Amino acid sequence: MKRLLTLLASCALISASAQTVSSPDGDVKVSFSLSQSGRPTYSIDYKHHKAVLPSGLGVRTKQGDMVEGFEITDITNSSFDQTWSPVWGENSTIRDHYNEMAVALRQKESGREMIIRFRVYDDGVGFRYEWPEQRGLTYFVVTDEVTEFAMSGDHNAFWIPGDYDTQEYDYTESHLSEIRALMPKAVTHNDSQFVFSPTGVQTALQMKSAEGLYINIHEAALVDYSCMHLDLDDKKMVFRSQLTPNAQGDMCYICAPCHTPWRTVTVTDDAREVLASNLILNLNEPCALEDTSWIKPVKYMGVWWEMITNASSWNYTDVPAVDIESFDYTKAKPNGRHGANNEKVRRYIDFAAEHGFDQLLVEGWNIGWEDWSGKSKENVFDFVTPYPDFDLPALQAYAQSKGIRLMMHHETSSSIRNYERRMDEAYQFMVDNGYNAVKSGYVGNIIPRGEHHYGQWLNNHYLYAIKKAADYKIMVNAHEAVRPTGLCRTYPNMIGNESARGTEYQAFGGTKPHHVTILPFTRLQGGPMDFTPGIFCMDLSTFAPNGSKVNSTLANQLALYVTMPSPLQMAADLPEHYAKYMDAFEFIKEVAVDWSESHYLLAEPGDYIVAARKAKESDEWFVGGVTDENERTVEVDFSFLPKGEKFEATFYVDGKDAHYATNPESYDIYTKKVDAKSTMKLRMAAGGGFAISIKPVK
Ligand code: NOJ
Ligand code: CA
Repeated sequence: MKRLLTLLASCALISASAQTVSSPDGDVKVSFSLSQSGRPTYSIDYKHHKAVLPSGLGVRTKQGDMVEGFEITDITNSSFDQTWSPVWGENSTIRDHYNEMAVALRQKESGREMIIRFRVYDDGVGFRYEWPEQRGLTYFVVTDEVTEFAMSGDHNAFWIPGDYDTQEYDYTESHLSEIRALMPKAVTHNDSQFVFSPTGVQTALQMKSAEGLYINIHEAALVDYSCMHLDLDDKKMVFRSQLTPNAQGDMCYICAPCHTPWRTVTVTDDAREVLASNLILNLNEPCALEDTSWIKPVKYMGVWWEMITNASSWNYTDVPAVDIESFDYTKAKPNGRHGANNEKVRRYIDFAAEHGFDQLLVEGWNIGWEDWSGKSKENVFDFVTPYPDFDLPALQAYAQSKGIRLMMHHETSSSIRNYERRMDEAYQFMVDNGYNAVKSGYVGNIIPRGEHHYGQWLNNHYLYAIKKAADYKIMVNAHEAVRPTGLCRTYPNMIGNESARGTEYQAFGGTKPHHVTILPFTRLQGGPMDFTPGIFCMDLSTFAPNGSKVNSTLANQLALYVTMPSPLQMAADLPEHYAKYMDAFEFIKEVAVDWSESHYLLAEPGDYIVAARKAKESDEWFVGGVTDENERTVEVDFSFLPKGEKFEATFYVDGKDAHYATNPESYDIYTKKVDAKSTMKLRMAAGGGFAISIKPVK
């Protein structure tokens, strides 16, 4: 009895005042308290700024709300400081250093227990809900998560609409109060119309306050849960979590013991620190694979851009419908536009091999492309049968004789059941035929019908595909899958993802030049992107019927290999376009895809980014700079180089008259000696940039 009284007394004491935990450097502080109604509430301070004002926490479930009526039963504080080495990435080591506060709560009436765990790093905060094993709460259905992020003002934001099925939007830069007016009312994906919440946006959401604070909200370790969007109450400037529903309108089905993904807030007064942040990776579990020796960064070309630009086709015939089980392709009339044919693929192999690439992606190699999209067709691809004009064993052997591999392509057309049913056979087929990397894709409305790309069910599928691929030692680059949340730390065979508007949109009407100055602050926070840079011919009407224009200069395209780091980088343009600009192509050939050190020299979301990186296991450095639609001159300080050593730098810069809209292919190349004391003024044209390769002078 005496012990119980002591415990009760300490509980009363715990709930009387706010509990705080600060980052190791003391700049970030989380305060936690219970409101009068017993609602868990937190706030985040950064130096003397209010990053997140007091904000409510909680989850509603079919089994009862877990939002109010709580008392604190325990608070546990701890610290952690370890350094780990990613299999690939921007740096060869990453420090995982935080202070933690776990608040154990009990809902007085229901007796339910819930822990809210905060991890506070120098670059931000992660917190999540945990449900320990307990009586009275086993299986439960989340109907709403009511996590709030209360902003202290009408911040500037870089946002895309809260669509549950695609992230492939241009970003809008606006104040929070302007989101409602600027939100598109609806879009149509295939045959379905998607209507947006008037103030719902996706994460990672980058904001900047009037006082110069950079606040970024995202999530980490999205496993067995649905993806979180943010819905803004634009009177109060409070975001609330909006989970992706399933076909029945529920959000998640979970079973205690369990926890949500981490909700993350990166906060700093220096934009470069957002780009350098490892918060999301650190909040993920360590590598789950015992042997990672087979995971290798990849630089690749592809029989791809010609299909995207409609200069050739994925499909072999033009018949309107096929049943892949019975259709006889050998008797069908070829359409004469099929891209993935033996002769063409050999030419690409020759070019890619001659210039030192690792792999060649070939899309449209397999049967089923005649009616793959927009038909909600279930049995759409089998992933193992080549078209008659694609001699797979001969081509793979030819590629390997020249030192490169073919890269597999699995477009699923979002027919998930079909893909899962055939997955073992498809991966085994890859192993048998010498493939070790697959680009997968989820175009179109999901089957089972009514599910969304970012719901719990699909998130479980994407991870299932990654884990199963690891069993076969296969690396995966999934397009249209849920946006990354750092899971590549745990499963480093996830070497790429699209999950944002990639270069392909330059062929579908164009993308705003500021896009590449925003993506590293948003989409790339969760992991690398298969952005497919390297376009050298910007007026597509010169070779393709669509006639779109690429809103970028050639030097800007080169810079992307450094400003958009990824262990999977494509040189996306056609060999004949590279052949026209061989001196500039040299940069793509040389640039590394894996790094031992990265430095962000200059950055402002929506305006510009300049980054410098050291290639892994090499003394070579690469620098990239990109700007938005505005021309600007920046001063690059080379003090990232080791002191006392001499280097020769090759500069790839916009030509004097370069401009993304009028003269995108104008560039200059020159060399200069540099060392750690050098500084240099470099001009970037509108939509332009620069790339620098730096080699030690022996
Ligand atoms: C969309 C992907 O983003 C693109 O790269 C691919 O070529 C098509 N789907 C076809 O799978
Ligand atoms: Ca896509």
